[in-house]
Amino acid sequence: MVTRNIIRLDVTDSTNSVALEVGQQGAAPGTVIVAETQTGGRGRLNRSWLSLPGMGLYFTIILRPRLTPDQLPKVTLAAGLAVCKAVETEYAVLPKIKWPNDLLLGGSKFAGILSETGSMQNGSTGQEPLVVVGVGLNLFPPAGGFPVELKERATALSLHVDREISAETVLETCVFAIEKEVQHLVMGDFQTILQEWMQRDASKDKILTWVTPKGQKVTGVSLGPDVDGILRIRDRAGTIHTVLSGDINLAGKISG
Ligand code: BTN
Repeated sequence: MVTRNIIRLDVTDSTNSVALEVGQQGAAPGTVIVAETQTGGRGRLNRSWLSLPGMGLYFTIILRPRLTPDQLPKVTLAAGLAVCKAVETEYAVLPKIKWPNDLLLGGSKFAGILSETGSMQNGSTGQEPLVVVGVGLNLFPPAGGFPVELKERATALSLHVDREISAETVLETCVFAIEKEVQHLVMGDFQTILQEWMQRDASKDKILTWVTPKGQKVTGVSLGPDVDGILRIRDRAGTIHTVLSGDINLAGKISG
C-alpha cells in the first residue's frame, strides 16, 4: 500500500496557496492538501471558487514533473481527463470537458482544475520543478441551492448519480488518476491523453466565442486543442486563432 502525505485542513484560504507554500519548502511529490472549506478558493481568470463545507471536495496535489513551464497547459488537460475518468469509473457518469478545465455534466460545470507552478531551490541539485494541481469538485448542491450567479451554469455530482457519494473515495481515485495521467505526460505520451480528452470534448463541432484578454470577441468553430494543448478556433474568414488565455463561451452546434 502506498503511504501518502495528506494534509487535512478544516479551513484555509486556498489549498493551492498552501500547496505552493509547502511545495516551496520541499514537500514530497504526491503530497495532497485537502480542505473542508476555503475562504479564498480560486479558479482560472481570477474567478473565485465556491467552497462551502459539506458541499464539495477541495484539494491540491503537489507534483514535481520533469516538464518545461510551457507544458503546463498539458498538465491541466491531463488532470481534467484524469478526474473525468475517475468519476466515470466510480459513478458511471459521462462528463464532458470544456477547454481547458471545466468538467461538465448535463452541460453544467461540476468541477474545475487550476494548475499553477512554482520552483524550489534545492542546495545540491539546483531548481526542482513544482506544479500544483488544484481540483474543486461539487459533490452536492448547497443547502439553499446554487447562488443566483451560478444557478444556470453549475451542477453537482450527486444530481447525476443514484449511488451514495463518498468524498474520500472521490479524493483517492482522483489523486491516483491525476498522478497516472501526469506520469504518461512525463513519459512523452501526450498523444493518447489528447485523444482521450477529445472523446470528451464539450466543444467538438461547436461554435465558440472567445473573449480575448484584451476584451475582443472572436467567433468560430472549435478545432480542439493542438499538440501543445492550446485550443484553436477557425473564424468565418478561415483564420485560425490560438487561445492562450481568456474566456470561451459555447454557442450552437454547427449543422451538417
Ligand atoms: C476553475 O474552474 O477555474 C478552476 C477551479 C479550481 C478550484 C480548486 S478548489 C481547490 C483548489 N484551491 C483553489 O484555490 N483552487 C482549486
